[in-house]
Amino acid sequence: MLVAIIMAGGSGQRFWPLSNEEHPKQLLKLFSDKTMIRETVDRILPIIPAERIFIATNIKQAEDIRGELPFLPERNIIVEPKFKDTAACIGYASIYIRSLLGECNFIVLPSDHLINDRNTFLEIIRRGEELIEKPGRIAIFGIKPDKPETAYGYVEAEGERIGEAFRVSSFKEKPVLEVAKDYLAKGNYYWNSGMFMWSDRTILSHIEELMPGHWSTLKNIEELLKGEMDEDSLSRAFDEFEKISIDYGVMEGARDVVVLPADIGWNDIGNFTAFDDIFTHSENGSVVRIHQGEQVVEHNSRDNIIINEGSKKVIATLGMKDTVIVETDDVLLVCRKEEAQDIKALLKKVNEGK
Ligand code: GDD
Ligand code: MG
Repeated sequence: MLVAIIMAGGSGQRFWPLSNEEHPKQLLKLFSDKTMIRETVDRILPIIPAERIFIATNIKQAEDIRGELPFLPERNIIVEPKFKDTAACIGYASIYIRSLLGECNFIVLPSDHLINDRNTFLEIIRRGEELIEKPGRIAIFGIKPDKPETAYGYVEAEGERIGEAFRVSSFKEKPVLEVAKDYLAKGNYYWNSGMFMWSDRTILSHIEELMPGHWSTLKNIEELLKGEMDEDSLSRAFDEFEKISIDYGVMEGARDVVVLPADIGWNDIGNFTAFDDIFTHSENGSVVRIHQGEQVVEHNSRDNIIINEGSKKVIATLGMKDTVIVETDDVLLVCRKEEAQDIKALLKKVNEGK
């Protein structure tokens, strides 16, 4: 039985000021009239019924997520009391779902990616299901890299084929630029798309072995789930979790991993520069997104990304190049494209000044 866990509790920093903790990227309507979380759920509904789609989210976002997905059973929204990253998210969701449904296979999905070729994506999930029938095996979907991106995990594919997949000999999360360049040149590396398939047993036994701290907290939570779960006890248990992602915590140390090459029109929309890959450009090479009729004027400017989200101001640029400008009611962000990945660091300073 295949069950989906959609991770929708990121803290929404890289798209600030469009997003924030209460309103992260997955709740934005960036590419259609649907939010990204709704797109993610709709994408898998043809093969996984609503009763088996679970959303792992944070307490600050839970209400909006419920509003977006009213057709999911109430119990399928799993609420985390603290932001503790994806290892805690996946561990808690796995224990929670197992307590309801018993043993099952999981597909773990991010909530904020773009996938253009839905049919191929669903076909690859079917192949993944077959692959993880082998106890202990993890299947991930790999994207062929075309640049030395340092914001992704990389997997090294061995020559050995297992069905449509390749055996993975190593997993490196977010390498430094020199290493990423080396991987790109070697040619047998894939980006980790951030989607995982495994059985409940496989992921929990990996956490037990590789993340003993997380494991002991999860055992405590499992006890809480047997009784009337009160919010304070769950919150105290979450305090114990180290804040770390599943990629560093489990994937770098996992042994039986296979990668399914996934040519699915994938884009993880990691920061504002992804708009260059997705939207059409005006004559001067800029991407301009307005909410409703706002004015943007550029002169002697090129290759900018300009977003006016409902502010009444005219945005006018003169001699600007490769710049991201985002105007909302209360914030004006101006940043060089090559720095857009570091908005998190800027936001930290903004919050310190409040
Ligand atoms: N419920 C919950 N709780 N969800 C979370 C949490 C949390 O504490 N933290 C992050 N998420 C969600 C995010 O909303 C997103 O959908 C997903 O988990 C992945 O988190 P990111 O923070 O976006 O991860 P990343 O982009 O830095 O790296 C991951 O994805 C890359 C591909 O996009 C890794 O898996 C990389 O290896 C991978 O290449
Ligand atoms: Mg991401």
